[in-house]
Amino acid sequence: MSEKIVLTGIKPTGTPHIGNYVGALKPLIEMARSNRTFMFIADLHALNIIHDAAQIRQHTYEIAALLIAMGLDLNNAVLFRQSDIVQVSQLSTMLMNVTPKGLMNRAHSYKAAMDKNMAAGLDTDAGVNMGLYTYPVLMAADILLYGTDIVPCGADQKQHVEFARDIAGYFNHIYGNVFKLPEPVIGQSTGIIPGLDGRKMSKSYDNTIPLLAPENELKKKIMRIITDSKTPDDVKDPDTSTIFQLYTHFATDDEIADFRQKLMTPGMGYGTAKTILFDKINAVLTPVRNEYERLMANPSEIDAILADGAARARAVAAQTYDRVHHAMLG
Ligand code: ADP
Ligand code: TRP
Repeated sequence: MSEKIVLTGIKPTGTPHIGNYVGALKPLIEMARSNRTFMFIADLHALNIIHDAAQIRQHTYEIAALLIAMGLDLNNAVLFRQSDIVQVSQLSTMLMNVTPKGLMNRAHSYKAAMDKNMAAGLDTDAGVNMGLYTYPVLMAADILLYGTDIVPCGADQKQHVEFARDIAGYFNHIYGNVFKLPEPVIGQSTGIIPGLDGRKMSKSYDNTIPLLAPENELKKKIMRIITDSKTPDDVKDPDTSTIFQLYTHFATDDEIADFRQKLMTPGMGYGTAKTILFDKINAVLTPVRNEYERLMANPSEIDAILADGAARARAVAAQTYDRVHHAMLG
């Protein structure tokens, strides 16, 4: 096992889709096989958007159950709920005092909210609460509390991780070498997963295939993938086909080569191609869905895993926080 400490947080704000699964969740599970990994459900970060406790709790269970059902290695990975570690809120308060306000003004999350307001002709800060404005400070606390080396993330989170590194630098400059400097690692190996309309699969485009949809709904969605108007007798181009692109993320190399050949040979229509895709995705996801549903029906099992994770995370967090407290307040 490598000595590097990997950390990532997942916000409990929505239902995961196949793009999230292939682009983010699967690589994380893979990474956790060979690295000491802290993986938490960022319920405190969800608070600036969702003000309904039951909804946050429900999404938290869903993400935890999904990660466990996907086979997260719970020996290497410490899976916990962000809010179970009180030290993260304490550290966030401390870091506020070395974080320049100007840094927060530049944060993408805040700028995106301002841009949206301006486009709608509203006051630039309309609906912006301090949770959103100081989002990167809490995220820095998450990262620095566990001695993180690497933060695997999407491109949208890179700036936040760089801020955590900056904030650690400001702190260390004043108080000595307390924090390790983390690095963002942007996963690029999988590329962009297309959605039903061929654009990037994203909840913002309403073109997603939900990861844990029941079988009949999964089939309906796949049958709705937009194709060109080629008939069964036409030769099709796998490299521009959404059906084929999605297939490559679920099938073996031999199966992929075989499917490519079938598309490039007259005889197979898109309807058949979609059925082949559905059968493949469904075969891969059925065991995950079954285990997910079993766990969701037994929340005490999820609670026990999260409690164990919290105890392991707290042991590290308490040590780091003590050093910070000592450095700042004696
Ligand atoms: P959405 O675009 O649906 O809002 P998020 O921004 O919540 O998705 O995505 C969470 C993570 O899932 C991102 O960090 C990204 O790496 C991954 N992801 C989302 N959509 C895709 C996609 N279409 N292809 C590859 N990865 C994706
Ligand atoms: N901000 C991340 C997101 O929106 C979630 C998150 C919270 C996170 N804390 C983190 C990610 C620490 C990586 C490291 O998806």
